[in-house]
Amino acid sequence: MGASERRGDVALRGVVAMDGPSGTGKSTVSRRLAQACAAAYLDTGAMYRAATLAVLRAGLDEHADCGEMGRAATGARLESGTDPAAPTVTLDGEDVSAEIRGPEVTGLVSAVSAVPEVRTELVARQHALIEAAVTGGGGIVVEGRDIGTVVVPDAPLKVYLTASPEVRAARRGRQDAKAGRDADLHATLADVERRDRLDSSRRVSPLYAAADALVLDTDRLSADAVLDRLRELVAQRGLDG
Ligand code: DC
Repeated sequence: MGASERRGDVALRGVVAMDGPSGTGKSTVSRRLAQACAAAYLDTGAMYRAATLAVLRAGLDEHADCGEMGRAATGARLESGTDPAAPTVTLDGEDVSAEIRGPEVTGLVSAVSAVPEVRTELVARQHALIEAAVTGGGGIVVEGRDIGTVVVPDAPLKVYLTASPEVRAARRGRQDAKAGRDADLHATLADVERRDRLDSSRRVSPLYAAADALVLDTDRLSADAVLDRLRELVAQRGLDG
């Protein structure tokens, strides 16, 4: 166990905004940073995935119109935990943390997360969870696509992780294989590129790095190296307590 792995040896005050596309190692390092700093952790992608599962369970697919998707997603009872040791998301009281990683949800999530009503509702829920975590001087690591640009534009530390589509697809393939899901590298690469296109070109809150975000290319950086860099940044910005 390296220095980065010790739990809660530094405290975090305020919000660390972690953005970037999938497969950059964002979830791994965001969770580990939160654990290392005894902070809360919010995976906003999991919230969009759970909303997408609600859309699927309402019997809708990619042919549904925005209004129908919006109603199904915003009417669902979604709850997100902020404990980095056990990040869970529930839909109507059921733990759906594993199901939201499956191919049906992954195939539809970009469409659902482009619906303005869905974003308005989920951003409001994110604000409430973030506020609860920072009240009284606590900290939270929030990961997503629009955290530094829209959700917490005044976050004291914003990081944007990038990596080439090939490296990201290979990482996703390894995660899928580990979780027992079929992993075809060509299909995964095509899906990574398709989602990048949709997430970066949507009208509402597209994916891009905030002007004041620190951009880290993770193609040649291990998770440990990224985590060490993040912890340096937390200390440099005076966010450790
Ligand atoms: O991080 P992820 O792959 O689990 O995210 C799933 C999808 O959710 C992603 O394709 C885009 C969307 N998303 C978003 O639009 N805004 C966020 N803050 C987080 C995720």
